[in-house]
Amino acid sequence: MSGHGEAQPMISEKSGPLKGTALIPGDKSISHRALIFGAMAVGQTSITGLLEGQDVLDTASAMRAFGATVTRHGEGVWTVNGVGVGGFQEPADVIDCGNSGTGVRLIMGTMATTPISATFTGDASLRKRPMGRVTDPLSLFGTQAFGRKGGRLPMTVVGAANPVPVRYALPVASAQVKSAILLAGLNAPGETVVIEKEPTRDHSERMLLGFGAQLHVEKTGEGHVITLTGRPELRPQTVAVPRDPSSAAFPVCAALIVEGSDVLVPGVSQNLTRNGLYITLVEMDADIAFENPREEGGEPVADLRVRFSGNMKGIEVPPERAPSMIDEYPILSIVASFANGKTVMRGVKELRVKESDRIDAMARGLEACGVKIEEDEDTLIVHGMGAGGMPGGATAKTHLDHRIAMSFLIAGMAAKKPVGVDDASPIVTSFPIFEGLMNGLGAKLRHG
Ligand code: S3P
Repeated sequence: MSGHGEAQPMISEKSGPLKGTALIPGDKSISHRALIFGAMAVGQTSITGLLEGQDVLDTASAMRAFGATVTRHGEGVWTVNGVGVGGFQEPADVIDCGNSGTGVRLIMGTMATTPISATFTGDASLRKRPMGRVTDPLSLFGTQAFGRKGGRLPMTVVGAANPVPVRYALPVASAQVKSAILLAGLNAPGETVVIEKEPTRDHSERMLLGFGAQLHVEKTGEGHVITLTGRPELRPQTVAVPRDPSSAAFPVCAALIVEGSDVLVPGVSQNLTRNGLYITLVEMDADIAFENPREEGGEPVADLRVRFSGNMKGIEVPPERAPSMIDEYPILSIVASFANGKTVMRGVKELRVKESDRIDAMARGLEACGVKIEEDEDTLIVHGMGAGGMPGGATAKTHLDHRIAMSFLIAGMAAKKPVGVDDASPIVTSFPIFEGLMNGLGAKLRHG
């Protein structure tokens, strides 16, 4: 559980060329789901490549508290002995999801249609985030939720004793909300339907099919209509978790902005619901070769060969691309600072309810580093200063947000003066080997 310990300041100094191969840990979204779906299957699910970041470890603890047997056998190698759909027991204590919005929202959905109660909490960041987006649709199943003002944690969720299936059109593009409803629908009789206007990451749908649920997706004028038949018996699976494209973004973007760099990042997902950043970088004239395309762990992947790109140009990022790169705007805004001209990011207000208000955190930190920013509720505009142009020489506030911390540490590798962060401790939530991996490529990250 992050955010409960002491702040760990970190500094990043201008680095020489980054060289080598960056082996990225497992995908965070898929790791949470492998544990949760494993807990809902009857029998033993085997997982390899599980991300052992704090967010995922908190979900593993939660699955144990609901009655599943979750065992670690070695690095990334885990098994889950599930209790079956509807088989969750009432946890004896509060469920602490640490920093993880995905963890808490998916787990709330999973227990929402079983007649048990559970009280959820998290760190100071998670306790600020809105849960109504999940508990509103869950109430349609008959679930009740009692939280703090504004639908904040701590919150007690009382599962529906006689759940009814629901039909729900998502008001926000959110894979967390979509997944919470599908997980709740598993233990409701009949068909639960979720409609999403813009496609968001589809790992839950893929995994539900893999575990033997009956699910179909239809593309209609309304968007994607996802229909799930309730009360299946889920069959245990062997899940090979692919590498996390959202974590890969950090060494990829570092190589683009640090002069002379040439880095190979193997096995980066090209899943269309996750690869928006990579499309955007190519449009900015980044030098990225997509080598050896293949399938790994059920995901299309490629090896990315990334070279320093001293002549990138600012672009207008199409707002409809936001769901496929929602976690990558912080690091994109760093790359944009080293491009020529302005990069316009519209339709990004969801960034305000992530681990931190990411528009505000990036805007304030970049301004402190000497970059001109424009922003409104739904927009971030970065005025690029060209390769090596960012003055730096500032310390950014990370607000318990791992992606803000990593983004500014990457900026320091190419800025004129070092860039620090007030607290790098949240990085363990998603990318526990970040410091060692980046320093192994040639970065100069140090504590202090
Ligand atoms: C996630 C969905 C996204 C993303 C988060 C992981 C998931 O959140 O930001 O890091 O695993 O479903 P939203 O669904 O709220 O956009």
